[in-house]
Amino acid sequence: MSPDQPTPPANPPAPRPAPAKPPKSIQQQQVDETKVWNLWFTRREFLTLAAWGGFFLWLGGTIGAALRYFLPNVTYDPPTRFKIGRPEDYASGEVNTRFKKKYRIWVVRDTPAQGGGLYVIYARCTHLGCTPNWLSGQNKFKCPCHGSGFRWGGINFEGPAPRPLERCRVALADDGQIITDVGDRFKDPKDWHRPDAYLKV
Ligand code: FES
Repeated sequence: MSPDQPTPPANPPAPRPAPAKPPKSIQQQQVDETKVWNLWFTRREFLTLAAWGGFFLWLGGTIGAALRYFLPNVTYDPPTRFKIGRPEDYASGEVNTRFKKKYRIWVVRDTPAQGGGLYVIYARCTHLGCTPNWLSGQNKFKCPCHGSGFRWGGINFEGPAPRPLERCRVALADDGQIITDVGDRFKDPKDWHRPDAYLKV
């Protein structure tokens, strides 16, 4: 370095901090807010839209409630009434199992000595609801869950089942077929000789 050149300072002065921005006035804040509103709609338009929205919500709720009141209550439970063929399709002295899987029923036809009638037993154990099996070799229904046994006709005689199997309502349709209703059942054996529980065919 030549002796004519100035000597640089050992520590250059630190840059001055930028002056803090003065806080925005209330008017300035309102102007900023208005700018944001104006991107979409004005405050007046917003309030009008909110009022109409509330009105239509109220109107929809009122119309829905009125329709609910006037329309019938429709349930979509599966049907419980079925046609199960003609009486001559069932042999005397037989527990027919062909509808057990589809409708959970057995169709039973007594022998002439037993009365010769036809009835439908609901295939649900009266202990805890399992599906028993018909054991033709032992002439009884046997529940696989806890061992309850039911005689021909459905009377309980062994195991924990507290009462007989239930029987379903039966009738003859105009076309000669048997109709049964698995949703309408007789629990008490006293009812089993009613004409809508025991078809004399
Ligand atoms: S459910 Fe049939 S014996 Fe328990």
